[in-house]
Amino acid sequence: MKGVRDLWLTFVSTEMGGLTRSLPKEHARRPVMVNGPKCGPAPNTRKDLRISSISRHSTRIEYIFSAQGCTFMRKAASPTQSARFPIIKAICRSIMDEPSEAQLHQVKRLADDYEATGESTEAKALRDILESGAGKATGFAPSRLVRSKANLGGEVLTSKTPAPVDKETAVPLAQVLFPSTAAVSRPTFDPRLKSAVDSLVEEWAHWDELTRAGVDPARSCLIYGPPGTGKTTLALWMARELQLPLVVARLDGMISSFLGTTSRNIGTLFNFANRYRCVLLLDEFDAVAKVRDDPHEVGEIKRVVNTLLQNLDSRRDFGITVGITNHEQLLDAAVWRRFDAQIHIPRPEFATRTEIAARFLGKDFAAPFHGKLLAWISDGLAGSEIESLARSIRKAKVIDGPQFDLLETMRRLSALNSGRVSAERVSQLALENPRLAAALKADPSLGLDTNELAELFGNHPSTIGRWINST
Ligand SMILES: Nc1ncnc2c1ncn2[C@@H]1O[C@H](COP(=O)(O)OP(=O)(O)OP(=O)(O)O)[C@@H](O)[C@H]1O
Ligand SMILES: [Mg+2]
Repeated sequence: MKGVRDLWLTFVSTEMGGLTRSLPKEHARRPVMVNGPKCGPAPNTRKDLRISSISRHSTRIEYIFSAQGCTFMRKAASPTQSARFPIIKAICRSIMDEPSEAQLHQVKRLADDYEATGESTEAKALRDILESGAGKATGFAPSRLVRSKANLGGEVLTSKTPAPVDKETAVPLAQVLFPSTAAVSRPTFDPRLKSAVDSLVEEWAHWDELTRAGVDPARSCLIYGPPGTGKTTLALWMARELQLPLVVARLDGMISSFLGTTSRNIGTLFNFANRYRCVLLLDEFDAVAKVRDDPHEVGEIKRVVNTLLQNLDSRRDFGITVGITNHEQLLDAAVWRRFDAQIHIPRPEFATRTEIAARFLGKDFAAPFHGKLLAWISDGLAGSEIESLARSIRKAKVIDGPQFDLLETMRRLSALNSGRVSAERVSQLALENPRLAAALKADPSLGLDTNELAELFGNHPSTIGRWINST
């Protein structure tokens, strides 16, 4: 690229005549090759230059010209950009006392960026600053690693850390899930529940400030409610929000397979969780309570329950513990007391079911009435069942192709899921079209209008109107 700068200066001053005079000084910097062989020969005669475009904007002037098969561009720094550079320099200098690897990397990126747009003076200034910080980098903090929001103590858990195992059989006692790899979306809850969950996550995200101020954050939480309402999903999402690994242990598995050694395994599990910065998730928490009634295991189970309670107590000094159960009525007061927060996840109401339905139906069923209709059919069902019905509808659309009929599919599904879908909905869906249309129109929660019904039934709105009036 040697020689281009001189040529550019000549070019600017001769070819552009009057315009040059109005250019700020920094325009006389070398242009940047934006297209063409990277180290191609620099143009050396004026004839080689062909102006492709000159554009003038209020804050910048751009020139693009071609020479010897390459395209060159000069992008003028706007006056505000130039004025900001001393501030950028000051920021970069201020972090060079104890820079992290990530900070050095970002400053280098900035310098490269200046270089690429022809602002070599700025690029050089940043490189000088970088040199002053080189060798002072503290620890390894790759920019990919997001810092945990809940600043708990303990060692950092990595994918290389061996999971806790049963000492005799080497069977894993827990699974470790990392926030970066866990593909989990926030479950859809009604606004009241959503704000309760948010406030708990917020509390954990301010762990440090709260403990410094002597106000202990909630350290444990019991999530309970009917099956399939999103309890496990919620726990996974909360850990991901906090950017903490989740140590998931299923108490039912631990207890049934290792009853003789359960106490020891519970100890191993808690020691592991207490050593590392993580959220401990005890799924199927009621397993302890269930086996307590087994007359053959009274002695052992008492020991197990005691060990569990002691470990829950000792865990208070370490990290966050989440217990999940479908059978909260089986837990006794001693267990309830151990959990600072208790979140009840009920089966969703109509509005929440509509949101869940729309979410799982996806973009092929984007009309508002699609979600409402599935919510109406899934009266009294949990999120997982709505998800499953939505999946069946989507499958039918693929299989039936142009013949797909939403109403017929819903009728078929209600018959195939008679154990799930309420008897009232099954019998309503079995009605003939005019009577079903009238029933749907009469349902205040659905609020379907005649046009929506016309689309659903594949008839003209006037026909729907007639049906409704005649029934
Ligand atoms: N409220 C919800 N919002 C979005 N998805 C939900 C909701 N409830 C359930 N699901 C979906 O249902 C599936 C099962 O949910 P999850 O396993 O979290 O339920 P659970 O309450 O833990 O059930 P179980 O008590 O049987 O363990 C998940 O795939 C999730 O996507
Ligand atoms: Mg679960």
